[in-house]
Amino acid sequence: MDSVESQLKQTVNDLMSKKEELQAVFDMAANGISILDHNGMFLYANKFFQDMMGYTMEELYTESCISLSSPEYAAASETAVQKAIKYGSIQNFRKVCITKSGEHLNASMSLSYLKSRNEIVMITSDITQDIKYQDELKKQVEIEVAKRTEQYEIMCHQSRLAAMGEMIDSIAHQWRQPLNGLGLIVQGLRHISDNNMLNKEMLEEIEEEIMEKINYMSQTIDDFSSFFRISKIKESFDVLNSIEDAIRLIDVQLKANSIDIKIILENGVPRNVVGFPNEFKQVIMNIVHNAMTAVVAKNKNNALIEIKLTFYDGRLNICILDNGGGIDEENIEKIFDPYFTTRENGSGIGLYMSKVIIEHHMQGYLTVQNHNDGTKFCIELKCQELQ
Ligand SMILES: Nc1ncnc2c1ncn2[C@@H]1O[C@H](COP(=O)(O)OP(=O)(O)OP(=O)(O)O)[C@@H](O)[C@H]1O
Ligand SMILES: [Mg+2]
Repeated sequence: MDSVESQLKQTVNDLMSKKEELQAVFDMAANGISILDHNGMFLYANKFFQDMMGYTMEELYTESCISLSSPEYAAASETAVQKAIKYGSIQNFRKVCITKSGEHLNASMSLSYLKSRNEIVMITSDITQDIKYQDELKKQVEIEVAKRTEQYEIMCHQSRLAAMGEMIDSIAHQWRQPLNGLGLIVQGLRHISDNNMLNKEMLEEIEEEIMEKINYMSQTIDDFSSFFRISKIKESFDVLNSIEDAIRLIDVQLKANSIDIKIILENGVPRNVVGFPNEFKQVIMNIVHNAMTAVVAKNKNNALIEIKLTFYDGRLNICILDNGGGIDEENIEKIFDPYFTTRENGSGIGLYMSKVIIEHHMQGYLTVQNHNDGTKFCIELKCQELQ
């Protein structure tokens, strides 16, 4: 008998010490711990929870986890209690609580149902600071993105200005010949008229010659102005046509520098890609213009630029090769960086924009390597029709 009594005493002592232990854990916890009845009414809350919400335990007895929620979360809190009872537990339920002094507190709660007692243990963490921090981070990211977008737009603008400068150079070259021609015709007219040679046939011949030159000049302007039209909608286009269009724009300069340009097309290469044809032409122009500058600087007498189109595994490869001496190994990593240039009047945006256009706008690849006595730029694009 004695031993039963002492065993009982021992068990009660053990239980008391476990209770004390548990109480200490509850009180020292750096989270709100509370026990709720099956309606969500408070039966117990640790010191942390009381301090967090600003209520004493006596006050909490008449409150529930639903009544302490901000009104827009009341229904969700009720559902959370029911779900915890139904499924045994719910984790990381986020809501806004209102403290006794009326402050809003962002909380994350986990609820666990104690079936044998028909009670719920609720752990509450105050995540107000985390959310504030996240909001600040988000704002910071938005500011950074806006800054970068602005920077990117400035670069787009600069690159188009640089391209425009090159274009104006080209127009000047393209127009020089027909303008000289027109000048000669005008001078010839006085001679013809002084010698009374002007008849109907002669007039028609002169008219035809003048019109031909004017049409050529006007075609040049049309080519250039369509080049500067930015399209916002992706379209399916023939890359070979675009390459030819781009080359036509600087053909006179290539000829003036005695640069041979060849397009080599592998048999049966499909040529349709989806993207922005004018931007693509700008890329070809940039690369060919760079190649031209390199071969001119090298003063080559067999200056050659080759554009090879091949097709492999559903992808079209457009490689542009020159024999302008290549790029210094120490620079090759940097040539796609914005503002990297080794040229006196270069802006260093040409290749950066080309990479953005091919890789970001057209989901392709633009790579470079030194090759024989020059460089090889390769554009890889997926061959496809518009969906
Ligand atoms: N075909 C090439 N051969 C040799 N070097 C090249 C070639 N293409 C590009 N480069 C190098 O890459 C650099 C960057 O080219 P990028 O087109 O971006 O700028 P840029 O030509 O200097 O100026 P711009 O913005 O006016 O085109 C060039 O300055 C040059 O050093
Ligand atoms: Mg360039």
